[in-house]
Amino acid sequence: MTILVTGGAGFMGSNFIHYLLKTYQDVRVVNFDKLTYAGNLENLRDVERDKRYSFIKGDIANEGDVERVFQTKPDVVVNFAAETHVDRSILDPKAFIMTDVLGSYTLLEAIKKHGTGKFIQISTDEVFGSIEKGKFTEESPFEPNSPYSASKAGGDHLCRAYFRTYGTPVIVTHSVNFIGPYQYPEKVIPLFITNLMEGKKVPLYGDGLNVREYIYTEDYCRAIDTIMTKGEIGEVYNIGSGNEITNLELTKKILAAMSTSEDMIEYVKDRLGHDRRYSLDWSKLAKLGWKPEYDLDRALEATIEWYKANESWWKPLKSGEYLEYYKKQYQNS
Ligand code: NAD
Ligand code: TYD
Repeated sequence: MTILVTGGAGFMGSNFIHYLLKTYQDVRVVNFDKLTYAGNLENLRDVERDKRYSFIKGDIANEGDVERVFQTKPDVVVNFAAETHVDRSILDPKAFIMTDVLGSYTLLEAIKKHGTGKFIQISTDEVFGSIEKGKFTEESPFEPNSPYSASKAGGDHLCRAYFRTYGTPVIVTHSVNFIGPYQYPEKVIPLFITNLMEGKKVPLYGDGLNVREYIYTEDYCRAIDTIMTKGEIGEVYNIGSGNEITNLELTKKILAAMSTSEDMIEYVKDRLGHDRRYSLDWSKLAKLGWKPEYDLDRALEATIEWYKANESWWKPLKSGEYLEYYKKQYQNS
């Protein structure tokens, strides 16, 4: 079986490739990635000589690149490729529209032409907008509030439309926030861990009372595997964990785990359009036999340990383009 993983050089894409190669002997994994600032082949250094693995550099929004990668005749396509950081989408939405909307369209067109067994669209709970109480189900309407979530919603809507119109074998997945190794240190957890390791303060937005739900990388990869093997074409699946926490509580946990005082918190200006809370009902996925194994404490412990043991991985990432982004991000704080 050939599995095409787009965005496989990113955080979760590379975790998923590791998972596939560990779980399945008889598999061919093709990683198709543009290598943006978030794409890093270091994430896959340990498997680059594995005969079951190959890498093709290219853009999911470029028809020629996509045509080339479909010559590998994938049985399954898992689309992780995206621009993913909300703060960057506020500064510069265009790249999000190009990759998350036009890229999804380009992949769907290639599948219409070449065919494949299943197209799994990796998406987010953020497309549903913010929810004060209760949980979003797969039927909740899309009410995206950031250029990131609006772009993801656009890609997801196209998936639905291609299934309805052309019978394209699509499954859409919406997940809560990820936590685990290889996450680019711009997202809150790796940013805060690495800042503290560098003796820097952690910038907490607004009142710090926004709520996010977190799922550990291993649990998430098993969820996608479950959907890949048992999920029904044309369906939508939420992936959650029940691990909900405010940013302030999360920050306090990180500070405690790293034996640092709360003086290291720096309250900064709130994110524009900042969603208050995300929360997903994932009972539909549970019916396929999946459940998460990591609670937040265990996930956080494993993640902090990984960043402590892999300073040489993240240190070079916090320079160059990253510093330019940070200058822009905090110039008004
Ligand atoms: P990431 O930002 O770490 O990696 C994205 C990868 O996609 C990078 O390797 C990048 O080079 C590649 N890429 C970007 N544009 C591309 C293009 N045009 N063509 C080919 N490759 C391109 O992402 P992540 O945090 O691992 O997220 C992966 C997926 O999961 C995304 O679709 C995201 O929307 C979704 N998601 C993420 C979270 C989260 O908490 N990070 C939560 C729910 C859903
Ligand atoms: P983030 O990791 O960017 O994920 P998302 O916005 O996609 O949920 O942010 C998680 C939460 O942490 C979000 O409520 C914003 C907040 N946050 C901070 O308080 N400070 C930061 O420096 C960052 C990056 C995020």
